[in-house]
Amino acid sequence: MAVLVTGGGGFIGSHTCVELLQNGFDIVVVDNFSNCNPKSLERVKELTGKDFPVYPCDIRDLDGLCKVFDNEKIDSVIHFAGLKAVGESTQIPMEYYDNNVVGTLNLCRVMAKYGCKKIVFSSSATVYGYDNPSPLVETMKTGGVTNPYGRTKLMIEEILKDIAASDDEWSIVLLRYFNPIGAHESGRIGENPNGIPNNLMPYITQVAVGKREFLSVFGGDYDTPDGTGVRDYIHVVDLADGHIKALDVLNKKTGVAIYNLGTGNGYSVLDIVKAFEKASGNPLPYKIVDRRPGDIDVCYSNPEKAFKELGWKAKRGIEDMCADSWRWQSMNPNGYDD
Ligand code: NAD
Ligand code: UFG
Repeated sequence: MAVLVTGGGGFIGSHTCVELLQNGFDIVVVDNFSNCNPKSLERVKELTGKDFPVYPCDIRDLDGLCKVFDNEKIDSVIHFAGLKAVGESTQIPMEYYDNNVVGTLNLCRVMAKYGCKKIVFSSSATVYGYDNPSPLVETMKTGGVTNPYGRTKLMIEEILKDIAASDDEWSIVLLRYFNPIGAHESGRIGENPNGIPNNLMPYITQVAVGKREFLSVFGGDYDTPDGTGVRDYIHVVDLADGHIKALDVLNKKTGVAIYNLGTGNGYSVLDIVKAFEKASGNPLPYKIVDRRPGDIDVCYSNPEKAFKELGWKAKRGIEDMCADSWRWQSMNPNGYDD
């Protein structure tokens, strides 16, 4: 029996595929390659020495997904496939609701049809909205989300809860990620954004490798120790490990379980700049500019529930995150095209 990984060619998906294969799981990947390079999966095969089927399929394609379930023995699903750029989601909201919400509904329909009722879903700290104080705990109310991308995550969480309430055979784990950065320590797989990066770490690594002139630090007047935004950065390999632990829960109990995946530590933008300069051995040019609309001052997790119930804890610190991000970018200045 295999784990179906939707969006397995992407940043978090490819790292999770490596951990799954190294932990003895068989996997099947579905990806429409809208936001990844198929070479990421070639490198997963090379790193692990293991082969697996890859279906170039959109999760909104009902017949395509049925073929995957006809051909393979799928036991459970880890569902990464989705669009994730906050700014873009405000420009093309219909595309976000269709891809993320309709896509997930379609996937669940096919899963139910084939009697596969175990799913781990990639949710986000964004579902806590802007008015909960950090550290964020799973029992806090959700809502108050400021953009269509975040609302797709919130809607999917609610849909999955309704599905579990309607049929007690479903087992669903909602993983609320904080800020994933870093890369596999081999430097062979990593984050490979198209165009101008939206997120902090890929922007920093592109400045460091000479592709961009300087980092714009969005806001120096937040209510934080150095005035810049504070986030809970988590190494992508630790995040990937969290999914392996979540699969245990799927096999042990039904219903919905929700876990934060973060370190519980908040670092400011300037903390990250300093840690990155140390890891790369070079100064990183930056300018403090206006705040980015929609950003909040502080966001970090309370990760205790994942530790108590999953036995999961992030092992890698900010130094490893910066060193591994830098190794990936410096070994692959043009991403998977190198
Ligand atoms: P990513 O864009 O690198 O990976 C997503 C993958 O899904 C891509 O390979 C893309 O081609 C594929 N995909 C998108 N729509 C699809 C569709 N309709 N059918 C099939 N494949 C499709 O993103 P990531 O950073 O690896 O994120 C994975 C998941 O985690 C996403 O759902 C994202 O919203 C969620 N998440 C990410 C972050 C983050 O900061 N990276 C934070 C919280 C949650
Ligand atoms: N930042 C900069 N300059 C940049 C990019 C980011 O100063 O060029 C700052 C931001 O203002 C913020 C911090 O760096 O203070 C982190 O920003 P990111 O864009 O890397 O991440 P966010 O916390 O804004 O968003 C991330 C994911 C979202 C998710 C959200 C909450 O990208 O998908 O976490 O989980 F919704």
